[in-house]
Amino acid sequence: MRVLITGGAGFIGHNVACYLAKRGYDIVVVDTMERSSAFALRRLEELGISIVRADVREYSSYSVVDVVVHAAAYISVEESVREPIKYIENNVLGTARVGYECGKRGIKLVYLSSAAVYGEPLKLPIDEDHPTRPLSPYGLSKLQGEEVLKVFASTYGLKYVTLRLFNVYGPGQSSSYAGVVTVFSEKASRGEPLVIYGDGTQTRDFVYIEDVAKVIEHIVRGDVFDNEVYNIGSGNPTTIKELARTIMKLLGRELPIVRMPQRPGDITHSVANISKISRLTQFKPTPLEEGLKKTISQLKTYSTPEPQF
Ligand SMILES: NC(=O)c1ccc[n+]([C@@H]2O[C@H](COP(=O)([O-])OP(=O)(O)OC[C@H]3O[C@@H](n4cnc5c(N)ncnc54)[C@H](O)[C@@H]3O)[C@@H](O)[C@H]2O)c1
Repeated sequence: MRVLITGGAGFIGHNVACYLAKRGYDIVVVDTMERSSAFALRRLEELGISIVRADVREYSSYSVVDVVVHAAAYISVEESVREPIKYIENNVLGTARVGYECGKRGIKLVYLSSAAVYGEPLKLPIDEDHPTRPLSPYGLSKLQGEEVLKVFASTYGLKYVTLRLFNVYGPGQSSSYAGVVTVFSEKASRGEPLVIYGDGTQTRDFVYIEDVAKVIEHIVRGDVFDNEVYNIGSGNPTTIKELARTIMKLLGRELPIVRMPQRPGDITHSVANISKISRLTQFKPTPLEEGLKKTISQLKTYSTPEPQF
């Protein structure tokens, strides 16, 4: 089976590409390379996965593709507040183009959406029926992508599934645009203070990348394209302070924590209700410490030092 992964040279895309390639799927990656990492490219290369350098808003070579996993997007809440039009243009038009190409050709689609579509939760844990009131242009762009696909399902017969990912972490995540786990791990391993925005009691739901890849493989293998929305999280809230402490413990460091004001567009609490995906896949999320250990060990294996100016 041939699976095309948009944004496949980014954090989630390349991990999913490697996971599926190791299980015998024929993978092709489409990415502008604008925000790809040397880490991701090296791993794709090691598995002989072909990469097409293209922007999904213009790309149309979908022949012999069975399934598309659409991961291409800009992903920084903070950047989206500064540059909203860029986010709407890239994320919404990108999803529209991919959805349209898939719909008219009968290709099945996995759309990677985000918990950012919910905004500040009215109740916890957040289930899929929770109102969607994004707080940032990023969250809005992901929600608009969902809306576009809903219409394309009825207009062009698109078969798809939307995964609302919570905070995904794991090997190969860039610290430039997102990824508090990577930021903390890199800083702690260099012995630098960890920066927390707000008082550190805000919670997030951290889900290990392999759990996300497993769900996608289950959907692709089982042909579960039911046009439904599924939350993908661990189902457990972790405070940012707790995360910082756990990473320092795993790295054997005791470092100062620097407090900065909360950032615009950041929510206070977040945790997923994962009953729906658990019914579909017997989803068993990796415990946080176990996922963090794997992430930290890969950080040492593949890390390429950033230039110090
Ligand atoms: N990382 C998370 O915790 C998280 C959480 C929720 C949702 N998501 C979603 O998962 C997806 C992947 O996120 P990620 O963390 O891997 O981000 P990433 O920035 O590491 O990867 C995204 C990749 O998409 C590419 N890209 C961007 N625009 C493109 C375009 N128009 N055409 C082709 N390639 C393009 C970038 O070059 C990059 O390699 C995104 O859609 C994001 O919204 C991520």
